[in-house]
Amino acid sequence: MKNETKVVLLTGGSSGIGAAAAELMAAAGMTVYAASRRGTAATESAGIIPIRLDVNDEAATVAAIDGIIAKSGRLDAVVVNAGNGIAGAIEDTDDAEARFQFETCFFGALKTIRACLPVFRRQGHGRILTVTSVAAVIPIPYQGLYSSAKSALLMFTESLAIELKGSGIQCGSVLPGDTSTGFTGARRLTAAAEREDSPYHDKFQAYLRKIEHDELEGMPAAKIAKAILRQLQRRRMAMRLTPRIDYKAICLLARILPTKLKLWIIGLLYN
Ligand SMILES: NC(=O)c1ccc[n+]([C@@H]2O[C@H](COP(=O)([O-])OP(=O)(O)OC[C@H]3O[C@@H](n4cnc5c(N)ncnc54)[C@H](OP(=O)(O)O)[C@@H]3O)[C@@H](O)[C@H]2O)c1
Repeated sequence: MKNETKVVLLTGGSSGIGAAAAELMAAAGMTVYAASRRGTAATESAGIIPIRLDVNDEAATVAAIDGIIAKSGRLDAVVVNAGNGIAGAIEDTDDAEARFQFETCFFGALKTIRACLPVFRRQGHGRILTVTSVAAVIPIPYQGLYSSAKSALLMFTESLAIELKGSGIQCGSVLPGDTSTGFTGARRLTAAAEREDSPYHDKFQAYLRKIEHDELEGMPAAKIAKAILRQLQRRRMAMRLTPRIDYKAICLLARILPTKLKLWIIGLLYN
């Protein structure tokens, strides 16, 4: 069947949400090329083929996709999941740190998608599923660059959906809320945010303790993996799929509340 997802390229497959998604997709009978810089898979399965790949290396990404076509003869979907975070007040973030945040979460995603598009176009079908975040629709203080990068990726996914109308190529996103993964441990802090003379120091430290707690006590990665699998198996992907009812409600409120009221509530929660 043309619309059936059999062969998938998944970025960020070595840990957290990606590792859980690879496991579920393989259990559903899909062949998953799980890309990451480590090039490892958390689960051993005939359906999971780990690939060592930095999504910021465009030539390597194109070569990896050529390799998938040579081996599997097709590519039905790409799950653009590789990501990382840097935290610090915007005033405490320099250009290099801002660029670091956009490098993998936005430009890495752009490179991955651009490399898949010619294949999808030739086939007349393909699915582009981005893993963004609730932070794409909620401006998160002290993670302003992360929110911006995820918001940019979400907008880009939706712009692309319009451009690809009629091509047989679908686009959609999954927006996770707090999820317990390696993301928390891997998060970088901006250099100025760690300085005791930062005007944000005390508030930032309190914020950091709160979000680290919320993430580590958050949803299991399997919850997000189920949403990813659902997107790949449904006939038409949802444009935005937010797992768990409370996060769905947060995203709905973000759409309908007046902006000032929304920012005031977020400030109460995080600042
Ligand atoms: N955890 C949360 O609360 C949460 C909430 C909302 C959205 N998300 C998003 O969910 C996605 C998955 O994150 P996670 O929570 O599962 O975190 P994670 O456990 O840290 O996994 C991140 C994955 O991305 C890979 N990766 C990072 N940089 C890469 C690069 N340059 N090239 C290739 N792979 C790269 C990592 O593998 P290597 O280190 O081996 O390269 C790893 O497999 C991210 O996009 C994140 O922003 C997470």
